[in-house]
Amino acid sequence: MDQQQYDFGMIGLGVMGRNFLLNVADDGYAALGTDVNAEAVDALNKEGEGMNVLGVNTQQEFVAKLAKPRKIMLLVPAGKIVDKVIEGLLPLLDDEDIIIDGGNSHYDDTNRRYEYLKEKNIRFLGTGVSGGAKGARLGPSIMPGGDESAWKEVQPILETVAAKVNGDPCVTYIGESSSGHYVKMVHNGIEYGLMQLIAEAYDIMKRVGGLSNNRMSEIFADWNRGRLGSYLVEISGKILAQKLEQGRDEHLLDYILDKAKQKGTGKWTSQTAMDLGIPIPTIDAAVTMRAISAFKEYRQDTSKMFTVINSDEVKLDGEALAVEIEKVLYFCFVITYAQGMHLLSEASEELNYNLDLEGVARIWRGGCIIRAELLEKIRKAYGSREGLKNMTATAEFRNDLNDCRSAVVEVLHLANERGIPALCMATALHYFEAFRSERLPLNMVQAQRDFFGSHTYERIDQKGTFHTEWDS
Ligand code: 6PG
Repeated sequence: MDQQQYDFGMIGLGVMGRNFLLNVADDGYAALGTDVNAEAVDALNKEGEGMNVLGVNTQQEFVAKLAKPRKIMLLVPAGKIVDKVIEGLLPLLDDEDIIIDGGNSHYDDTNRRYEYLKEKNIRFLGTGVSGGAKGARLGPSIMPGGDESAWKEVQPILETVAAKVNGDPCVTYIGESSSGHYVKMVHNGIEYGLMQLIAEAYDIMKRVGGLSNNRMSEIFADWNRGRLGSYLVEISGKILAQKLEQGRDEHLLDYILDKAKQKGTGKWTSQTAMDLGIPIPTIDAAVTMRAISAFKEYRQDTSKMFTVINSDEVKLDGEALAVEIEKVLYFCFVITYAQGMHLLSEASEELNYNLDLEGVARIWRGGCIIRAELLEKIRKAYGSREGLKNMTATAEFRNDLNDCRSAVVEVLHLANERGIPALCMATALHYFEAFRSERLPLNMVQAQRDFFGSHTYERIDQKGTFHTEWDS
């Protein structure tokens, strides 16, 4: 009988779980996995041949083979399944064992599970894992939050498994309770924003500049070597080059239906931002655009009812336009990260997470979907200023935003003229304009509130609260 004790266990051997576990085994740890689906267990055993990894079919066997305190990660779909798996495990576990939920769980669920498991003497880490299947296999960015003593026990494993930037592992203890899942959720909100901004840039370059997919692919590759260098820019360039089939000229991208799906993390980011009163309009707009995209039939009908300049007929110099779009994307990327970081700074106080924002930027530099050159600058901006909330006006970004602003105005003008939607770009610009406006027209809003609801207002020339019997 196999008496070996395993260092790390994984429940859920889908593509993420299997790859993460193989990564653990690669790093010299004895890795054990289980799944309700016997085929997934077989797939792990096949792929893990010759490695110190084993797939087993029952939770009893799984738990019995793990060294104590057991370190068990769950990579199962977020929601009720997580609770079900935890309930199944509980009678088999001992005090001080560790459960790591590595899925995209909602932070409220994570808070509840953390408290529940604490009562049962089980240590819980709600952990964001980013990087997709490839990241899980080769090095993801990992965002663990919850029981700090549990973090200390799994730290050596997670540090070897995580992506590295200049030898620095892309994992750190995020903070108490649900902070790890909260940070991962905001990561995904930023991800939504960047993805939509790239989509808008592609649309404008194609429809205003008449650039081919092949040329845009080269331009994206070029951008990826500069200040826009990032995983999402890199893969977008590759997507633009992908042919429908080998030997054919058509591009796969032109055949993909323009309806985007979503699993909820972007929406949750917008919801919590609204609750905390932190503006993240570019992320909200990205969620909204996915929602609008889903109304395909309505869009088809409506497209016949309004006349706008046919953008496909009026082409400008595509190469010159691409130079401007690079500035637009840089401006909008900075604004999107700024919104996400601002939200985290507020959540840190309101939800008592006590986040180290420099640390968050540091572990996002590698492995995750929003990894980008820009994150090193963001890390420095937060690292050198305690309590920094919004980074837009810092020395790291001020001049670049000033320099790029006119390109955003011009490109949006072109899009507006031609009826090309660019909601994310527009929100980024207006967010910037609003924050750099000493005065906003919200005096009118206050007056309206007082007019119809006696909600009172403050004055700029006197202290106190005022109400007027308005002439009606
Ligand atoms: C990651 C990704 C990952 C997942 C998204 C997709 O960081 O590795 O964010 O978690 O691909 O959740 O989200 P949508 O289905 O909502 O686009």
